[in-house]
Amino acid sequence: MQLTVNTSKPYNIFIERGCLDTLGGRCAALFPAGAKAAVISDSNVFPLYGERVLASLRAAGFAPSRFVFPAGEASKQLSTVGEMLGFLAEQGLTRSDFLVALGGGVTGDMAGFAAACYLRGVSFVQAPTSLLAQVDSSVGGKTAVDLPQGKNLAGAFHQPALVLIDPDTLETLPPLFFADGMGEVIKYGCIRSRTLFETLRDAGSLAPLMESILFDCVDCKRVIVEHDEFDTGERMLLNFGHTLGHALEKAHGYTGLTHGAAVGIGMVLIARLGEHMGLTQAGTAEQIAAVLRKYGLPVSDDASLDEVIRATALDKKGLGGDLRIVLLRSIGESFVHRLPRAEFAALCRASLAPEGAR
Ligand SMILES: NC(=O)c1ccc[n+]([C@@H]2O[C@H](COP(=O)([O-])OP(=O)(O)OC[C@H]3O[C@@H](n4cnc5c(N)ncnc54)[C@H](O)[C@@H]3O)[C@@H](O)[C@H]2O)c1
Ligand SMILES: [Zn+2]
Repeated sequence: MQLTVNTSKPYNIFIERGCLDTLGGRCAALFPAGAKAAVISDSNVFPLYGERVLASLRAAGFAPSRFVFPAGEASKQLSTVGEMLGFLAEQGLTRSDFLVALGGGVTGDMAGFAAACYLRGVSFVQAPTSLLAQVDSSVGGKTAVDLPQGKNLAGAFHQPALVLIDPDTLETLPPLFFADGMGEVIKYGCIRSRTLFETLRDAGSLAPLMESILFDCVDCKRVIVEHDEFDTGERMLLNFGHTLGHALEKAHGYTGLTHGAAVGIGMVLIARLGEHMGLTQAGTAEQIAAVLRKYGLPVSDDASLDEVIRATALDKKGLGGDLRIVLLRSIGESFVHRLPRAEFAALCRASLAPEGAR
């Protein structure tokens, strides 16, 4: 399956089983013969898939090298990108060479950022291997690293030259990370595609449907990114469930609750709040909760409501004193709603506090 993303610099996305082995050939259509290709990967993913990617690049006439960093979010910082940039310089990469990001969102975000900075911008290819990276981070051109002060605080918009999604790589993804990515998959159904939502709700095994599910998610992100490449409006819809989700992650000190799990709970809570406001069709929160449960994701959390409300005060999606939240009219239809922070806090207390505490 193939899509084209028509951003300032258009690029193709291929979703194909086994496409890691044809990566070199796809790159040959974009880069000059003999170009250097730096494969950026982490210590879990490179041992699994690295040699196949290097072999495919060599077979297509490129000169590949590798930069492997310790797996995990803790690596997503300026010092790792600094080492990466030093490596690219040592290898003598020029503007006609390219990077290949082989791994999850951490790899893609850092390789993309290095590609945006190195020589003021070189091309990079996304070869995402986690579900989250395949449906979300590899598409759209947001690259970043974390700072001690917060997540994703330093970065750049830099679109990839090509995205190659090999669904077979999901077979080695640990179940916890698969469930984490499912949080975002379910989100796409909620914000834009009732059909996808119903497929997820009704499917027996996901395996035979995986390519088409990945396609639906990526297509959803494609449309939104095409309308709002630089995140000034519609892209906000992708944050459904994220305002309260981020607050929950923070309340847990960013450990113990994965991002996807936090977003899942955030989607249920914000749908409940929308129902309370009379803006979201009654029963929507429960429909979302049922699908989340089906895929092993939590639907509630014991973090204190006050702590969560306090954490939303720092949400970067704020606009002056107002907060912009994403609500659903019903499953598959989303919109942005702007309201004063104090009103949001009061609504949270009225609609989300456990029975008896209201
Ligand atoms: N740029 C964006 O638009 C965007 C969007 C969403 C999230 N993100 C970022 O993405 C990151 C999270 O992505 P992630 O969950 O993929 O994290 P990750 O890259 O750390 O991958 C998760 C874990 O799975 C392992 N892994 C990945 N693919 C594997 C495979 N096929 N087999 C075995 N193990 C595999 C990794 O080594 C890692 O341990 C966060 O830093 C987040 O900020 C960016
Ligand atoms: Zn997310």
